[in-house]
Amino acid sequence: MGESVFLNGEFIAAEQAFVSIGDRGFQFGDGIYEVIWCYQGRAFRLNEHIERLLGSAAGIRLELPYGRDELVKYVKQMLTDIKWEYASVYIQATRGPAVRTHAFPSDVQPTVIMYVNQGQGVPTSTREAGIATIIVPDTRGTLCNIKSVNLLPNVLARQAAVEAGAGEALFERDGIGVVEGAASNIFAVRDGVLSTGPLSPYTLPGVTRDCVLQLAKSKGLPVALEFLSREELITSSEVFITSTSKEVLAVTDIAGHVIGNGRPGPVTLELADGYRVLVERECGIKFGDNRC
Ligand code: PDD
Repeated sequence: MGESVFLNGEFIAAEQAFVSIGDRGFQFGDGIYEVIWCYQGRAFRLNEHIERLLGSAAGIRLELPYGRDELVKYVKQMLTDIKWEYASVYIQATRGPAVRTHAFPSDVQPTVIMYVNQGQGVPTSTREAGIATIIVPDTRGTLCNIKSVNLLPNVLARQAAVEAGAGEALFERDGIGVVEGAASNIFAVRDGVLSTGPLSPYTLPGVTRDCVLQLAKSKGLPVALEFLSREELITSSEVFITSTSKEVLAVTDIAGHVIGNGRPGPVTLELADGYRVLVERECGIKFGDNRC
């Protein structure tokens, strides 16, 4: 973790940052969060992440004590001396500390924290091989478009993936299809058409997903916004996941079924490279030989 963290308007030493055990984030999961990926200390798509944070806050009727510009300013301030190749900024806002009762307390001040961690990035060997995934039933509700800290189904799903030796768990929802990963959006290529789920209460509107859709448009790739069934997904020629930290990452195995020829496909690689070009352009950095 960076040396200082943000707690309710102040930058203080991480060891001195404490939150009340009565905090509603701790008691009820009554809060929201964001994860922003940073390259050589530059936050990628910062405005989009802050915009989503504001949307998540509105989604749980939480009035944040800071506006868009202040939040952007604080994130940049926190990144001032960060030189790591990769870093992640974590922001969390909860309804704050109060006597425990389910409904909103009348007099409560939100708790807002931010900190920065060094990021690892995806190893080249993993990028070249792609990842295996498992499919698990989607036990979440219909607020998945809100980035809330209620992540128990996601935690259990990812743990099941780890125990199965896989890199991600994909949620399958009755009557809808395979909607997204435990911490990622999902894309497939079928008959030359790139598909991902539409914006819905079943998925997070991923910032990386949005970048990929913009890239696909600029490259003239046909796109379909639709959820695929398990059968459609495993018979796709390419599948990949997207997230802030994983960027565009090939999926080469789903529940024991090999996808395509078992290697990252050409569309996936083109979009992964296009994403890195976007990062270079928007963050004003150069990856050099290490671009993908
Ligand atoms: N998760 N869907 C879910 C359920 C997620 O948790 C995430 C990201 C995404 C991808 O969103 P984005 O492209 O904006 O990162 C989709 C973050 C990284 C996390 O919880 O750590």
